[in-house]
Amino acid sequence: MKLKFKGKIAVITGGASGIGRSMALALAKLGTDIVIADMDDTRLGEVGKEIEGLGRRALAVHCDVSKDADIDNLAAQSFSTMGKVDILFNNAGVGVRGLVEKVSMKDWEWIIGINILGVVRGVHAFLPHMLERGSGYIINTSSANGLEASEPPEVARDGIAYSTSKFGVVGFSEGLFGYLRPQGIMVSVLCPGLTRTNIAVNSRYVGAESEKLKKLKESESLFNIEPSKLPEEVEILESDDVAQFVIKSMEENRFFIIPHKNVEALLKSRGQDYQKLEKYLQDTFVK
Ligand SMILES: NC(=O)c1ccc[n+]([C@@H]2O[C@H](COP(=O)([O-])OP(=O)(O)OC[C@H]3O[C@@H](n4cnc5c(N)ncnc54)[C@H](O)[C@@H]3O)[C@@H](O)[C@H]2O)c1
Repeated sequence: MKLKFKGKIAVITGGASGIGRSMALALAKLGTDIVIADMDDTRLGEVGKEIEGLGRRALAVHCDVSKDADIDNLAAQSFSTMGKVDILFNNAGVGVRGLVEKVSMKDWEWIIGINILGVVRGVHAFLPHMLERGSGYIINTSSANGLEASEPPEVARDGIAYSTSKFGVVGFSEGLFGYLRPQGIMVSVLCPGLTRTNIAVNSRYVGAESEKLKKLKESESLFNIEPSKLPEEVEILESDDVAQFVIKSMEENRFFIIPHKNVEALLKSRGQDYQKLEKYLQDTFVK
């Protein structure tokens, strides 16, 4: 049965910017009321107003997904204000760029605490409610770098902390699908490639090479290139396009949500045929 969004309640972490904001607005346009959770209070307020401008209810909650108490507060506020939660979008994420021997353990703990444990915390706080109701939809944001860790080559050089965290999200999500799908709860993992957002600004950079990359990204020279002028293998999507792809994939009950064609092509060319895994998951766990 096709998923309906009207009358549903969605909680979106990292909802004040980029992909989270685009998802909040896309879902609101389809009739979903939204709880947005983020650390950026200014942007939270702005997105809350945008959601209300679309005629939906919005609850904006200050939340650092790396803190247990913040997630517990998010769940408590979501249930008391909205009464239920149908969709949980564990999307907040950050980057650490730098050579692996130079990245401090503090930075490792920071990225794992947000990108993996933030997702785990979200599930921990909201899953009992979904299990009780026997329904719900959990989407976790990973990355193309949650499926491969060496393309482009710069990722292999200074993106290891990021790809490690994002591989963790794919593994966690796959396990969840197997556990929860038979219980009426859907799970998807979102693996975007390059998407025009604020992630470069919200990331940490270690060492001189990474400083150069930071400047390049902050100046948006990479993201400002006309799409038609990009080399064929590079694809940058707008966050609104990613959101539309996510909605379509949710309607199709897809586990893997891979909006970028170049990412899909890369996975296929490497022989990591995710469609075989998709088929196994769908055949084994969907009644
Ligand atoms: N932009 C890309 O190219 C790209 C590619 C693949 C995956 N992703 C993933 O997409 C997700 C969304 O990122 P985006 O690109 O929209 O970036 P973004 O920086 O525009 O949005 C991320 C939001 O998360 C918030 N955030 C950061 N740390 C947080 C924390 N500890 N608690 C709560 N909120 C926090 C930020 O304030 C920001 O509003 C991330 O998980 C990111 O890793 C992005």
